[in-house]
Amino acid sequence: MKLEDIRREYLAGGLRRNNLQDDPLQQFEQWMQQAIAAGVPDPTAFTLATVSAEGKPSQRIVLLKHLDERGFVFFTNYSSKKAQEIEQNAQVCLHFPWQMMERQVEIEGLAKRISTAESLKYFISRPRDSQVAAWASHQSHRISSRKALMMQFSSIKDKFAKGEVPLPDFWGGYRIEPQCFEFWQGGGSRLHDRFQYSLLSNGAWQIERLAP
Ligand SMILES: Cc1cc2nc3c(=O)[nH]c(=O)nc-3n(C[C@H](O)[C@H](O)[C@H](O)COP(=O)(O)O)c2cc1C
Repeated sequence: MKLEDIRREYLAGGLRRNNLQDDPLQQFEQWMQQAIAAGVPDPTAFTLATVSAEGKPSQRIVLLKHLDERGFVFFTNYSSKKAQEIEQNAQVCLHFPWQMMERQVEIEGLAKRISTAESLKYFISRPRDSQVAAWASHQSHRISSRKALMMQFSSIKDKFAKGEVPLPDFWGGYRIEPQCFEFWQGGGSRLHDRFQYSLLSNGAWQIERLAP
């Protein structure tokens, strides 16, 4: 089949200004709960875009683990490529796809490391093998083979066989403080609905409709 012949209409539903929450976080939470209820696969997975000091963008999927009025939290290795880029340029962009609902949400914001206490709280809730894996993987660095990784994993497992696996000092969370949101809902004949929330200097959110 030709790629250019793959197309469908987006008819799931429209988005109107008077149905939107004034607070974008409340709007996001409502959509997240609807995505979970609709059975969207990996509803908490989002694409995180970072930009290097030289202006080169890169992206990868991570999982949203916590959300409150302060922002969006995910966990990772602090020496990974994404973390190195964030340390040099905290401006990031998040993208939740939710195509099953003919929706997407884009969020721009500033990424900041969360406290060790907050990272520890999440780390101890993870399965033990995931805790060991955090120690065993120097994420984004070159390795010689899968075998070398598995050997590292079992040696760390033996090392921490007794007692709890400690939180690695190179592993933890980032919180993205949002500055701009866009909520997108597909519409018929490519006349989609898009609403942008921009954070004003007085802390209020300005809501504007964008052309599809
Ligand atoms: C569904 C899914 C969820 C993922 N969740 C995370 C995550 O929460 N944290 C993380 O560091 N990597 C996660 N990854 C792996 C990342 O996409 C990426 O490969 C890794 O973090 C290294 O990225 P970097 O080299 O750009 O830093 C996930 C991948 C997928 C496909």
